[in-house]
Amino acid sequence: MSSLPSQLSARVESVTGVDPELRPATKPQFGHFQSNVALRLAKQEGRPPREVAADVIARLGVGDLCETPEVAGPGFINFRLRSDVLAQVASDLIDDPHAGITQAPNPQRIVIDYSAPNVAKQMHVGHLRSTIIGDCFNRVLTAQGHTVIPQNHIGDWGTQFGMLVQYVVEHGLDVTTLDLPEVEQLYKDSKKEFDADPDFADRARRRVVKLQGGDERTLAIWRSLIEVSLAGFNETYARLGVLLTDDDLAGESTYNDDLPRVVDELEADGLAVEDNGALCVFLEGQDAPMIVRKRDGGFGYDATDLAAIRRRVSTLHADRIIYVTDVRQAHHFEVLFEVARKAGFLPESVAAEHVGYGMVLGPDGHPFKTREGGTVSLASLLDAAEQHAAPNIALAAIKYADLSNGLQKDYVFDAERMVQTTGDTGPYLQYAHARVSQILRRAAAEADPQVDPEADLSTLGWGRVELLEEPAEQQLALLLSRFGEIVDLVAVDLTPHKLCTYLYDLAGAYSSFYEKCPVLRSEGQVRASRLALCAAVRRVLGVGLGLLGIDAPDRM
Ligand code: ARG
Repeated sequence: MSSLPSQLSARVESVTGVDPELRPATKPQFGHFQSNVALRLAKQEGRPPREVAADVIARLGVGDLCETPEVAGPGFINFRLRSDVLAQVASDLIDDPHAGITQAPNPQRIVIDYSAPNVAKQMHVGHLRSTIIGDCFNRVLTAQGHTVIPQNHIGDWGTQFGMLVQYVVEHGLDVTTLDLPEVEQLYKDSKKEFDADPDFADRARRRVVKLQGGDERTLAIWRSLIEVSLAGFNETYARLGVLLTDDDLAGESTYNDDLPRVVDELEADGLAVEDNGALCVFLEGQDAPMIVRKRDGGFGYDATDLAAIRRRVSTLHADRIIYVTDVRQAHHFEVLFEVARKAGFLPESVAAEHVGYGMVLGPDGHPFKTREGGTVSLASLLDAAEQHAAPNIALAAIKYADLSNGLQKDYVFDAERMVQTTGDTGPYLQYAHARVSQILRRAAAEADPQVDPEADLSTLGWGRVELLEEPAEQQLALLLSRFGEIVDLVAVDLTPHKLCTYLYDLAGAYSSFYEKCPVLRSEGQVRASRLALCAAVRRVLGVGLGLLGIDAPDRM
């Protein structure tokens, strides 16, 4: 169901024919919303605005939602939602497992391509962002009842594996005894040798041919490099508390067998043509062609992504495909989608979206680098935040910092600021949740001294919100009623910062309510009703934080 404000807005529009552009009222005595629709209509019709306003009100049927609307000032219309209606909406949230999140009437199959680190390298800050953002999309879309199919498109193929395997063979190493940081070191060492020694480079290239040809020994070493890397990635995923599992892995090598077919289809369509020995797709308005097969016969990132998109449609039956990567890959995806559409791999009925994110900057405002100038590993970022706070709080700090700004923006990783329990931070929201939980816990203990202090607070039965007389109570209920709509917005636009802002506002509205309306110190029906309102706040905050992948503690 749509929220009260949007129901109201739709009703007004059905009478006036234009969007009433409801704005929150500036003062409680003006009700909850104000519209200037009569002023706009009056101008068109050349009539006095107050008369038009009175007319609109007379034709409106909103008695089930509002008190009788009032004309104010030059011709504004003020709306005050009925407090019993607000109370009803807030009450319904308390026991709703979806907390008011709209269940998709036509659930989709949604592929989300995220995380995607590269084998033999540690996950770096960029992968941190992809993993956290993708995880949030996964949770939001799943909560609406869609079938989410995560795809972890890890970089597990390419010429660098010739170099790595050759190095391993020549140095008689046993990869299985290494961990990911050691494998990364191996990568660096082999790269150094590759650049310095042309003979080694030659042997490495021959090794690539062996790898592609399916040489058993080469494949075995390649597989062990993947195993070790996956163990490292999984450790990070566990630490981040994200939903990805090994079932979601679909690395670049998964598509090897599809590549020749993809190429044939592109050639048969006349889409791909030979150019200087390479197989290319030329697009109008693009300076450089997409290279599907290189001059040496090898396939690269573009070809693999074409095969992946083709399979996501034909085999995974995706209705929507979302890619979460660094914003610098925007052009790659623009070209990819266009070629995939032309080739018939991606029908118009399937949406393809690239969500690009900005860089994580160090305190100096420059891209985050280690003191030695290397890329910062994800583990070291988590370590940095954990120097200032407990692990679940440090994690909330990082995730919130990642999600609460427009994704395209770069942001400064300032561990000390991010872990504060005041201001627009993850820990502040966790703290709000802990505070409201504490009130409920106390109330439960007062009502029944035998109650288990660790009992699940949401199952204790909080009755219903009956009385909503104070403006602070009404504002809180009003905000609660908007949750489902905010989630809808995030699901469509893929803008988690809107959910962050909403939760931050909710925590603020809860604070004002708590200052102005005593809960435990009030009595009778008022107390019961306020406790129920607290239970509704706790539910929405808890579910909302859950959608961000942030833990909502009962105590802090
Ligand atoms: N492995 C790539 C990287 O580290 C990201 C892959 C993103 N997904 C894709 N289908 N291209 O940049």
